[in-house]
Amino acid sequence: MEVLAIILPFLLLGVGVLFVAFSGGPGKAREAYLTGGNRIFRLAVPVVYVIGGLLVPALIVANSGAAAGGTDTLSSKSLSMEEEEGKSLFSERCGSCHNLDATNSRGVTGPDLDEVGKMSPKRVLAAIELGGTGEKRMPAAIFAGKDAEAVALYVTKVAGK
Ligand code: HEC
Repeated sequence: MEVLAIILPFLLLGVGVLFVAFSGGPGKAREAYLTGGNRIFRLAVPVVYVIGGLLVPALIVANSGAAAGGTDTLSSKSLSMEEEEGKSLFSERCGSCHNLDATNSRGVTGPDLDEVGKMSPKRVLAAIELGGTGEKRMPAAIFAGKDAEAVALYVTKVAGK
């Protein structure tokens, strides 16, 4: 019922506008209304009424559940404070070189972190400290201490998922 109460005023407004538009302006609309209009008009109104007035809002209402619930794969992963921190640090300093779907990072200089095999905090921490595997293609020590740990935790959690 709630839904109907919201939709109904728009329905009536829409039908009113259609009525005027279909019958060629306010003057003609009054005439059509008074005389009952022509046949096409009388057929068209219920059809447009059902499609535009009922179906569209019904679809919107039916689909809004998914958006409101946030069932999207990215937003549904609940992150701790530290992981959130790691996420933003990653976006700032790592995403330019690495692909990571969870942060929408599309860097191509370094390997795709969703694809290089199992991540562990140890592996990511080592990569941050050494600069990748130590071949000097990735800058070493971009982060240290708590920041490095947060990034390692976050990458381990989301990489490859
Ligand atoms: C300037 C580009 C660049 C930036 C910035 C960068 N990386 Fe890298 N990274 C690379 C390259 C290139 C490699 C592959 C070469 C290697 O392993 O030394 C790599 C490798 C890695 C690896 C894989 C190491 C392994 O075990 O195979 C991890 C994990 C990694 N990076 C994490 C990070 C994190 C976390 C950050 C942010 C602190 C970051 N990278 C920032 C270029 C970058």
